[in-house]
Amino acid sequence: MSPQDLLNITKEFGAPVYVYDAEKISSQYERLTKAFEGVGNLRLNYAAKALSNISILRLMNSLGSGLDTVSIQEVKLGLMAGFKPESIIYTPNGVSLEEIEEASALGVQINIDNLSILEQFGSKHPDVPVCIRINPHVMAGGNSNISVGHIDSKFGISIHQIPHLLRIVDLTQMNINGIHMHTGSDILDIDVFLYASEILFETAKNFKHLDFIDFGSGFKVPYKTGDIETNVEELGKKLTAKFNKFCKEYGKDLTLAFEPGKFLVSEAGYFLAKVNVVKQTTSTVFASIDSGFNHLIRPMLYGSSHEIVNISNPDGRERYYSVVGYICETDTFGSNRRINEISEGDVLCFNNAGAYCFTMASNYNSRFRPAEVLWFNGKAHLIRHQETFDDILRNQVDVKDLFEPSRKVMAD
Ligand SMILES: Cc1ncc(COP(=O)(O)O)c(C=O)c1O
Repeated sequence: MSPQDLLNITKEFGAPVYVYDAEKISSQYERLTKAFEGVGNLRLNYAAKALSNISILRLMNSLGSGLDTVSIQEVKLGLMAGFKPESIIYTPNGVSLEEIEEASALGVQINIDNLSILEQFGSKHPDVPVCIRINPHVMAGGNSNISVGHIDSKFGISIHQIPHLLRIVDLTQMNINGIHMHTGSDILDIDVFLYASEILFETAKNFKHLDFIDFGSGFKVPYKTGDIETNVEELGKKLTAKFNKFCKEYGKDLTLAFEPGKFLVSEAGYFLAKVNVVKQTTSTVFASIDSGFNHLIRPMLYGSSHEIVNISNPDGRERYYSVVGYICETDTFGSNRRINEISEGDVLCFNNAGAYCFTMASNYNSRFRPAEVLWFNGKAHLIRHQETFDDILRNQVDVKDLFEPSRKVMAD
């Protein structure tokens, strides 16, 4: 889709607005599938948390994807979007036994990441096949908030606890049908990832009835041209060889699963916002947009650097701007960026806005969350309305009868 298409979308649906390009999502799905074409049974379970609009889930389902979910609500959304229960894996972290039982009753694949719940669930439901999330203690991930495989991480069952795990499986007679790891986002060193996969293969040998091995995700995507990214083709070749060799030794054609979020939707997303004010200070020119970290929190939360393009003036002279939001705390999207000359009213486009952007948006400052639009077959489709004041009030209980209006008059 072109910058003009994006501009037209703001004319039709207003701004701020999120736009997703269906074609880019499909081509990323195909690219990953192709990278692992040497695997007999490949399963890509889209990580719903990255972008969970029901229309996006329907698109993923139409591509043949499965679904990776982390909450009972994501499970229910996935079922509503048409996924079969057996195409959904539920990988919660630290949730209650009751929530896991609710998901299990819906027929989805359960993935458990701690020994306490494993023992409780296995004792009550020994016939339900369960996947276990292993923590291989391999450090990956670009930011401390998204590195989840290391020794101090709260995620997964430590490989050092395998003997304890095996005792629980033996005691409960439960059926372990899959093993899983997710070392963190932003895998750059393929050898580190392969090292973690070796640990998973070693662990897998302890279980005789596996159907699949799930390698999680963490594919790094580029944020600008020339940016470093996970070489999925190289990973595909190397991991396929190791996986096929393992299946031979194991004596069964297992399914190789991944659960990509960012890889499938990050680059397909654009966030469009209008410039309210251009403000020259002694040392900086600020472009203040009609949005803030309530809509796009990644730069403030992870230090992520989204490319910012002035689609209203693509041929203008480049100048330096710090692009900031309207939240009354530090709310910076980019500092001293070279951007085509900005005038008040221009529309700025933030790239890589498909993953963990809308799903992390909030009503902070009592602002509305923006609309979402899907670009499909050369046409814009509204897939979420912008919120209204009714949405801000929804579920609030106004206990106005408890309080008398103040009679105090302020002295002047
Ligand atoms: C268990 C699990 N699987 C998959 C993902 C998706 O990761 P990514 O968006 O990097 O592909 C995450 C991300 O946090 C995760 O925690």
